[in-house]
Amino acid sequence: AQKIIIDTDPGQDDAVAILLALASPELDVLGLTAVAGNVPLSLTEANARRICELAGRSDLPVHAGCDRPMAGDLVTAEHVHGQTGLDGIALPDPTMPLADGHAVDFIIDTLRREEPGSVTLVPIGPLTNIATAFERAPDIVSRVARVVLMGGAYFEVGNITPAAEFNIYVDPEAAAIVFASGVPLTVASLDVTHRALTSREWVEAMRSLPNRCGPAVAGWTDFFERYDREKYGSLGAPLHDPCAIAWLIRPELFEGREINVEIETEGRFTRGMTVADWWRVTGRDANALFLREVDRDALFALLSDRIATLP
Ligand code: BDR
Ligand code: CA
Repeated sequence: AQKIIIDTDPGQDDAVAILLALASPELDVLGLTAVAGNVPLSLTEANARRICELAGRSDLPVHAGCDRPMAGDLVTAEHVHGQTGLDGIALPDPTMPLADGHAVDFIIDTLRREEPGSVTLVPIGPLTNIATAFERAPDIVSRVARVVLMGGAYFEVGNITPAAEFNIYVDPEAAAIVFASGVPLTVASLDVTHRALTSREWVEAMRSLPNRCGPAVAGWTDFFERYDREKYGSLGAPLHDPCAIAWLIRPELFEGREINVEIETEGRFTRGMTVADWWRVTGRDANALFLREVDRDALFALLSDRIATLP
């Protein structure tokens, strides 16, 4: 199985992504690292533990990481995710403890310990933990198999500013470090995740699964959908973060291009923009597989099959 570390800011769609990963034998989740993003770190790290407990995986190490971006103030998204970050169902406080040690140290130590090229990083929140690890321990960069992230947008442009997607916007300096690192990147952008919209039938099928994770997914996606319905008039909740996990399991469900992507850190109106050279007009070397299309039906069938195997 592919060894991964999921770096996350749960988040309802983060929660579904984590459940998909834990239900997938193709993946060996070495641990979760929490970062500040959708809500402050004290909530994201507790939510990560709640999700592990829901999945019956209180054995997994959950490390708390950076509580603010590399530069500037934290921007959060309670308007999308609710005050808890996981609004939609009531979950008890976690009983499993946080793992000892900072998330950045866990990332560094794991990459130094495991075979070079055997660990994939899957950031589905702002890139602060990953970039901090790369800065603090440059020796680990060449040991990373790949970074498979949710973030950015090109055709769909922005969801937090007109130009920027949330995860990149929260910490553009961190994103710039990761995109310039030379590590192979897969980018699940809004262009692809806005095609991964839940349907009513799928949500109801989740709700009627005879386990606890299925109804949890239904409750989360119902809550999450409300924002996109009011804001964009779209029907269904975009399952952003699960796209990153699904690409690892079934890459053939996705289409994209190997292109150059630069992060705007200075623009007056465009800070946090992923400047994606989709039409290859710059001559700059490709640094990312930028995803744009997904086989929606197959994606949701995969999610259904896997969530059904959980407690
Ligand atoms: C991303 O931002 C967060 O709100 C979601 O969890 C996802 O990672 C989408 O822009
Ligand atoms: Ca997220």
